[in-house]
Amino acid sequence: MVLNDFDLVLFGGSGDLAMRKLLPAMCAREIANDLPAGARIICVARHDWSHEEFIAAVNANARPHIKHSAFNQEIWDRFCARLVYVSLNATDAASYQPLVDALRHDAAITRVYYLATPPHIFSRICHNLAQHGLATPNSRVVLEKPLGRDLASARQINAEVGQVFEESQIYRIDHYLGKETVQNLLALRFGNILFEPLWRREWISDVQITIAEQLGVGNRLGYYDTAGALRDMLQNHLLQLLCIVAMEPPSSIAPDAVRDEKLQVLRSLRRFTPATLAQNVVRGQYRAGHVRGVAVPAYRDEPDAPKNSRTETFVALKAEIDSWRWAGVPFYLRTGKRMADSLAEIVVRFKTIPHSIFQQSTNSFQPNCLVIRLQPDEGLRMNLMAKTPGEGMRLKPAELELDFRESFKMPRMEAYERLLLDVLRGQLTLFMRGDELEAAWEWVEPILNYWEQEENTPLPYASGTWGPAAASALIGRDGLQWREEALPED
Ligand code: BG6
Repeated sequence: MVLNDFDLVLFGGSGDLAMRKLLPAMCAREIANDLPAGARIICVARHDWSHEEFIAAVNANARPHIKHSAFNQEIWDRFCARLVYVSLNATDAASYQPLVDALRHDAAITRVYYLATPPHIFSRICHNLAQHGLATPNSRVVLEKPLGRDLASARQINAEVGQVFEESQIYRIDHYLGKETVQNLLALRFGNILFEPLWRREWISDVQITIAEQLGVGNRLGYYDTAGALRDMLQNHLLQLLCIVAMEPPSSIAPDAVRDEKLQVLRSLRRFTPATLAQNVVRGQYRAGHVRGVAVPAYRDEPDAPKNSRTETFVALKAEIDSWRWAGVPFYLRTGKRMADSLAEIVVRFKTIPHSIFQQSTNSFQPNCLVIRLQPDEGLRMNLMAKTPGEGMRLKPAELELDFRESFKMPRMEAYERLLLDVLRGQLTLFMRGDELEAAWEWVEPILNYWEQEENTPLPYASGTWGPAAASALIGRDGLQWREEALPED
């Protein structure tokens, strides 16, 4: 679908996200020849920069993140010619005139305001835009996470942004939904007849969702220490993945058809009580250790970290969905920084066979397992039992594998590329609706409240491991193991 001419306005236009992700994503679309002649990107920030100073900053900070093999100077120059820099103070309505002047006031041109700023100024920016007549019907607004820090602040953002923009103009971004494999999960579930009959409590024993990072907190401590893994990763990315795994088949891929079903999942998640929380939620904080053979410091020894920080860098929990389809099927979610490996995957484990006709006991049969790998190597793996070659009937686990890179030798799109294109085309399916956001916060809020209590501190774990031992115990109590614990050594 050809893109309309557009003005994409990036608030936070000199920031980390713009430089590392958003501008490189748009440049990738330049390389792919997707941008129409009338496409412009207006970067808004406070620095009192000239256009040349801004372009120098983009050269230094964004260009190194463009990895495409077809990238060259000519493309870069073409891309930079689309960039406009506007210096203003986003919270000060009196400073908006340069933006009014920079925008093209033509209803045929799509206008997108991307708020890559701290969430407490979302509302101010929207109202300032409205005050200057810039919140036009052809405008869309993109809200970058964190979308609040609890239910009350999320509700406030929804209400205040909602005073200026219609829900159909609001794009709440969760970049995990832009990942190829997440969309492939939709394709797998609803493009094949095979899985749907089995996708339920009668056949599935448990689901594990892991997003593990070897990276530490990096230079984001200021933000991270006030957020922690629950707010940073679980409330959004992991819950969105859970929704895609667990939702009922939507009637179509239309935004509200999909979002209604995701909302239903969030509303069916069993609420934690103080008693169930202590049993089913584990939080940890990394200590010093080794990641890929390199010594790394403890979280509390990271530059500027408070020595007594109680911020969690790891969280694991057991969630349950009270619905006919999923009653009794545990969903184990886990995420952490400074882990043993960097990976994101969803593991759907089926039940064991009811009876063995072979000379092996049923216990020696590994249950079938579907592994959906989001990163690093995107693909699907299905574990089956197969006969070992030769005489006799010995069965051993074997794998069916679909490697997306190998199977589709096509250029891949980064999550932000895909999502920015969707915003520019007005496609809302992969963005969260306001009620979904609130339902997700509503579910995590008892955990946040419980952790607020003084006696609750995160459990320590050594960097380069899979988190505190309590996380293994959490799943072990149900007679299960996290997948990497169950895998045979190479
Ligand atoms: C972000 C979090 O949303 O996702 C970061 O704020 C995290 O802390 C990142 O590192 C992980 O994203 P990805 O795409 O690298 O897995």
